[in-house]
Amino acid sequence: MNSRPSIAFAKFAAPKKGSVFVLVADEGGLSDAARACDPAKTLDRAFPVADFTGKFASLVEVLAPEGTSLERLVAVGAGKGSNLDDYGWLKLGGTIAASFRKANEVAVVLDLPGAAVSGRQAVQLAAGILLRSYSFDKYKTKKNNGDDKREPKKPVKVTIHTADPAAAKKAFADEAAVIDGVLLARDLVNEPANVLGPVEFAARIAELEALGVTVEILAEKEMKKLGMGSLLGVAQGSPRGARIAVMRWDGGKAKESPVAFVGKGVTFDTGGNSIKPASGMEDMKGDMGGAAAVTGLMHALAARKAKVSVVGIVGLVENAVDGHAQRPGDIVTSMSGQTIEVLNTDAEGRLVLADALWYCNDRFQPKFMINLATLTGAIMVALGQHYAGLFSNNDELADRLTAAGQATQERVWRMPLGAEYDKLIDSKNADMKNIGGRHGGAIIAAQFLQRFVKDTPWAHLDIAGTAMGAPSNEINQSWASGFGVRLLDRLVRDHYEQ
Ligand code: BES
Ligand code: MN
Ligand code: ZN
Repeated sequence: MNSRPSIAFAKFAAPKKGSVFVLVADEGGLSDAARACDPAKTLDRAFPVADFTGKFASLVEVLAPEGTSLERLVAVGAGKGSNLDDYGWLKLGGTIAASFRKANEVAVVLDLPGAAVSGRQAVQLAAGILLRSYSFDKYKTKKNNGDDKREPKKPVKVTIHTADPAAAKKAFADEAAVIDGVLLARDLVNEPANVLGPVEFAARIAELEALGVTVEILAEKEMKKLGMGSLLGVAQGSPRGARIAVMRWDGGKAKESPVAFVGKGVTFDTGGNSIKPASGMEDMKGDMGGAAAVTGLMHALAARKAKVSVVGIVGLVENAVDGHAQRPGDIVTSMSGQTIEVLNTDAEGRLVLADALWYCNDRFQPKFMINLATLTGAIMVALGQHYAGLFSNNDELADRLTAAGQATQERVWRMPLGAEYDKLIDSKNADMKNIGGRHGGAIIAAQFLQRFVKDTPWAHLDIAGTAMGAPSNEINQSWASGFGVRLLDRLVRDHYEQ
């Protein structure tokens, strides 16, 4: 995150010496204000030469133009600018950031000939710049390895010149809180498991206290006392200990029941005794993507002082394999009292969530619970990596999540639940088993979770395909996407704040 650009908003003004000048142009050409900016004339002359018509995300560059002290002039197409929705502006910001390359200072002129650009739109563009500029490079010691002598020492300074900079500045504070939450989630997911185990993750969560979040960390002893045999069974093959972190942000009315988010935080998933194949196992450092999203969301909500009471709970364990590791066939007793026959130690996420969900419901009686988990490979078979799987016992909650997914383009697709699937996890030897048959693996996992939520409105997001390794796009070039933070911030903002 040391590459995070600084962002300022200002009225139209001449760009500083040595900076890169970026002009947003749409299919209607340039606005009067944009045309009045000095280097814009040079770009305008370059448009016909480059066949530039303002098409969305298209680009023209003029290098070291004579008569100016600027490094580069860039025009970026906004398409039909007045038709862009929030996500369009976000993507445009991402596209613009890609054109910065090694610039130290950038002036973006944002004004369109059609409708005036609002503060909100300018802020989405800024957010896109921040999201696109993220890279996880803290372990690269050779930043300046000789192939690029012009690598900037400092983060790029971006000034967005717009008609109403005051409005943009005001709106930016809230949006920056959300972006910081997304980047925090990405950082956590990208971090290798030797550095980030359950204890270290819990310590990162405790840092949220600086934002006014109340953080409680439960260690093994307390979990044992609470009867969390399901979660602890997963943890017992690792020397690194297990934790539950409880985060609370009380921005709502007193006595109001909170909304709750629960995350799977398996800091590394070897599969345990049902061990995974070596190929690709390194990706299982990201098996805490659900917990990272919950942590990022709590950061976002607290940093923007959301008017809502929220609980975030994450179950943090390492699913490792040593002589103490649980075996296929072991039977554990969950906090709910229900017993589970562990037929596959690699179906561990559901075992962690069983106790985390039960504990959340039991202690907080939340308005709803939404859990996020990199739960199954099967969800990728079903949906690929562009949608997360959504499972819910509540149509209203499911519809709201779907709408928030459309708005943020962190999309979710509803999958079925039902008694026929539920009975597939009945066990001969215990109340249930942790795997079903060969088919419908993502649904079976969801059915398992549902046995721990009673009648509380609940949704499960299977983010195995979207939290990590998803194709890069305009606003994310990193392995970890931070999926879920923008989605759930939007859900809360649209429906649960006073
Ligand atoms: N963490 C994995 C799921 C996963 C796989 C996430 C690939 C991201 C990428 C989960 O714990 C798991 O191993 N699930 C098994 C379940 C099976 C044993 C029933 C799976 O999906 O194969
Ligand atoms: Mn597993
Ligand atoms: Zn897992």
